Amino acid sequence: MTEIVRALDIRKSYRRGTKNIFALNGLSFDIRAGEFLSIVGRSGSGKSTLLNLLGGLDRVSEGSIRIKDKELSTMSRHELALHRRFTVGMVFQSFNLLPSRDAIDNVSMPMAFAGRPRRERKQRARELLDRVGLAERADHRPDELSGGEAQRVAIARALANDPEILLADEPTGNLDSTTSEEIMALLLQLNRELDSTIVMVSHDEAMARKVSDRVLRLHDGQITEEITDTR
Ligand SMILES: Nc1ncnc2c1ncn2[C@@H]1O[C@H](COP(=O)(O)OP(=O)(O)OP(=O)(O)O)[C@@H](O)[C@H]1O
Ligand SMILES: [Mg+2]
Repeated sequence: MTEIVRALDIRKSYRRGTKNIFALNGLSFDIRAGEFLSIVGRSGSGKSTLLNLLGGLDRVSEGSIRIKDKELSTMSRHELALHRRFTVGMVFQSFNLLPSRDAIDNVSMPMAFAGRPRRERKQRARELLDRVGLAERADHRPDELSGGEAQRVAIARALANDPEILLADEPTGNLDSTTSEEIMALLLQLNRELDSTIVMVSHDEAMARKVSDRVLRLHDGQITEEITDTR
């Protein structure tokens, strides 16, 4: 079993007035390559904080996160930027697409930042849109897409630079239940076909259990339960 993530006793605190509030308060866990892991828990339990640490959007206050044998906690700003660009792909509840650009351009963007040639970007963007079932919407702007379609574009964009891990924070939070199931099915398909490691935050525990290999429950910044009898 290859561990792609090893988190050891991580803590994250925020200053509130004169006090330190711990959003994460001593978590340790591993994630193996190819695993589909979900994180559930009440609002404020620390789910997004944890995902943002894995994504290199923020740094731990204490503890260690190793991803592919690289320590995140001691990375420079530049190294963290490279981590965000190449090692992880992130998907959010609100899609975060560029409104004035079509689907192809949105998916191409991370490849442009990575310095890949224009032709190659376009071609790969088309392939990715095809993979998420959106070949016919390649030239649509976000306001010409349904919520489910917009999230598919965001997922394709997250995969653009072939990341080691796909991180998704409530990817179906803005979608109706039918569309949510379709997006979950897509994530599961990507997990299986591309062997992608996926970490997903979800408030829908039943759905999380259906698609994941394992579910971690957070409460007050700690892991209180690990569910392995899923699917
Ligand atoms: N930038 C910040 N500054 C101060 N406190 C923060 C910050 N970000 C998060 N927190 C606090 O950390 C705790 C965990 O927040 P987090 O966003 O991780 O929760 P969550 O589990 O994702 O909740 P939700 O389900 O509502 O998205 C909360 O108490 C929150 O108020
Ligand atoms: Mg959150």
